[in-house]
Amino acid sequence: DAFVENLNKPQTAPPKTIRVGYAQVGTESAWRLANTESIQSAAKEFGIQLFYENADQSPKRQIEAIRKFIAMKVDAIVLSPVIDSGWDEVLREAKQANIPVILSDREITVQDDDMYLTFIGADFVEEGRRAMRWIAENAVPANKNATIRIMELQGTVGASPSVERSLGFREILQEYPNDKIVYTRSGDFTYDGGKQIVEEYLKTHKWDIDVVYAHNDDMALGAAEALEKNGIAPGKDVKIVSIDGTKNALNAIVSGKMNCVVECNPLLGPQLMKAITDLMSGKELPLRIITDEKVFTKENTQETIKSRKY
Ligand code: AHR
Repeated sequence: DAFVENLNKPQTAPPKTIRVGYAQVGTESAWRLANTESIQSAAKEFGIQLFYENADQSPKRQIEAIRKFIAMKVDAIVLSPVIDSGWDEVLREAKQANIPVILSDREITVQDDDMYLTFIGADFVEEGRRAMRWIAENAVPANKNATIRIMELQGTVGASPSVERSLGFREILQEYPNDKIVYTRSGDFTYDGGKQIVEEYLKTHKWDIDVVYAHNDDMALGAAEALEKNGIAPGKDVKIVSIDGTKNALNAIVSGKMNCVVECNPLLGPQLMKAITDLMSGKELPLRIITDEKVFTKENTQETIKSRKY
């Protein structure tokens, strides 16, 4: 009968759900929230079970998260590292457990590059170059021969976007001997961090800065608020250039409070989940997958604002 017939049919196992551990940096910026949302919703679309750990910008907590994923025997680990160094030991443990690691958004320095399979994210060095190119072409001091004085708001100390956005910026800066970075502080990629740097500066200086270069939008917007409170018009008395391309920053360009935003795309989820699915079906992954990005100024921002979700 039908029951016996069914028993005799070859049994195929139901397709296994892919389980992925995701060690995220934190919730420090609007960019980061959009990044997490993109990865979580792409996981759902791809039918991947995602275990999310928020490290609140602590590398130590990320290492604990990775160890937890190893103990859970997940199929893959996605790491968006808070800082660039200190990963050798824990990634060796993942390798010994045969769990592939994919870097998302930020890169790392490890003794053995075999510790991770691929990196999916932006070219931060190029972002820094783009920011300085805009300054070179657009920031003019009142007296043509005078120096352009730049304040740099760096991201988290030791994070790859901070290191690389500084590097790329300086690479172009050296071609312009009249342009100088006169003050550099870390605002940890947060709104409050950017605000505090400007407030601190104003305690001991009369405002003498032509350009604020912020490693992300949140710090730029925080700095703009502090400037306004002190009677200095952001975007007019001082040019503001930053990196990311969040809706708030694009709005600030349109309202004239910021001048240039170099885009860094946080919507990495679909590419990431596609890579994991490919990996699980035995395909080889490219070593680096770099996202496509643009530069926003008052000339081209309006068209993007409506469709920008973050
Ligand atoms: O790693 C990307 C950077 O981290 C983004 O520019 C910033 O907003 C985030 O916090």
